[in-house]
Amino acid sequence: KLIYILNGPNLNLLGNRQPDLYGHETLADIEAQCQTVAASAGLSQKMLQSNHEGQIVDWIHEAREDAAGIIINPGALTHYSIAVLDALNAFDGPVIEVHVSQVHKREPFRHKSFVSLRADAVMAGFGTHGYALAMQHVAHLLGGK
Ligand code: DQA
Repeated sequence: KLIYILNGPNLNLLGNRQPDLYGHETLADIEAQCQTVAASAGLSQKMLQSNHEGQIVDWIHEAREDAAGIIINPGALTHYSIAVLDALNAFDGPVIEVHVSQVHKREPFRHKSFVSLRADAVMAGFGTHGYALAMQHVAHLLGGK
């Protein structure tokens, strides 16, 4: 089974951008960590990042055909994208929302998430480790292989 790991705007800068908030690990590091977890559960993964809302929506549509589960860090789209929420509502498998930072400790506009209306679980404040934890939970929800 294939798991999509989707990343929204500015997450291409992970590791360089505000390291006090987001740490020093890059998306490539996260991809490797998730890969280890996915492989041990008999899952495969596809890691994607875009700064464009429509691209994220298109990938969620592709996931309808392709993927058994979605791990998504929508970046700022979390807080305003009804389009991303609607796309996720059209996807049947488990959806885990991930935020590197502890968004509830930050500005009030980050406390609201449209994506949480669909997500089966939400990770916030686990740092970049949150992605691998999310992969572990997806594997649990899908019952391994
Ligand atoms: C983020 C939190 C969002 O509020 C922010 O816009 C991001 C990253 C996180 O991973 O902590 O771009 O999703």
